[in-house]
Amino acid sequence: MKKNKSKFSVRCAEFRDAAQIFALIRMYPEELLQRSIGDIVQNIDRFLLCEIEGTVAGVVSWQILPEIGIPTKPSVEIKSLAVMEKYRGIGVGKALVLKAMEHIKPLNPRQIIALTFTPAFFASLGFKETPKSELMHKIYAGCINCIKYDSPFTCPEQAMSFDLDGQS
Ligand SMILES: CC(C)(COP(=O)(O)OP(=O)(O)OC[C@H]1O[C@@H](n2cnc3c(N)ncnc32)[C@H](O)[C@@H]1OP(=O)(O)O)[C@@H](O)C(=O)NCCC(=O)NCCS
Repeated sequence: MKKNKSKFSVRCAEFRDAAQIFALIRMYPEELLQRSIGDIVQNIDRFLLCEIEGTVAGVVSWQILPEIGIPTKPSVEIKSLAVMEKYRGIGVGKALVLKAMEHIKPLNPRQIIALTFTPAFFASLGFKETPKSELMHKIYAGCINCIKYDSPFTCPEQAMSFDLDGQS
């Protein structure tokens, strides 16, 4: 397929998209935490997708990371980011993450984070490597239920953070 940078748009997901989102996330079991169809439907308002030629070519979502008490460092995690192989390298992933950040920023978080096997992708968007020890709320929210690794500190995913301090 000739790669064409202009032929895609990012839009909010709708209930009708849930099955295709489920299938797309299922394609990448090594890179992505799997999500049930119920989880996807219940959080459909936190999914964006990219449609190309009538197909869901890419998807992204986000999750607010809770803290006990009044949040001192409100954080939002970018998750479930996937682009089908045949549509990679034309800016779909970048467009999805930038649009997700547009949705997240009005919440005025202190940081947007991601745990990823492709840190260079996030670095190209301005994310910086960050120690997992600084993301303990992520560990409580997600890693504690991980079925692949018994500790986030032995998991090979790299933590990345986009600092929003002073940008509100
Ligand atoms: C990572 C992923 C989302 C990238 O999607 P994509 O649509 O191919 O990325 P883009 O075309 O928007 O690339 C944006 C930038 O990131 C860079 N990039 C993309 N994939 C990269 C990779 N695997 N390694 C290093 N850099 C990468 C591109 O070169 C580009 O840089 P530029 O802006 O300087 O030209 C896609 O490879 C994917 O779905 N992988 C499997 C699932 C996964 O790992 N998700 C992330 C979990 S957090």
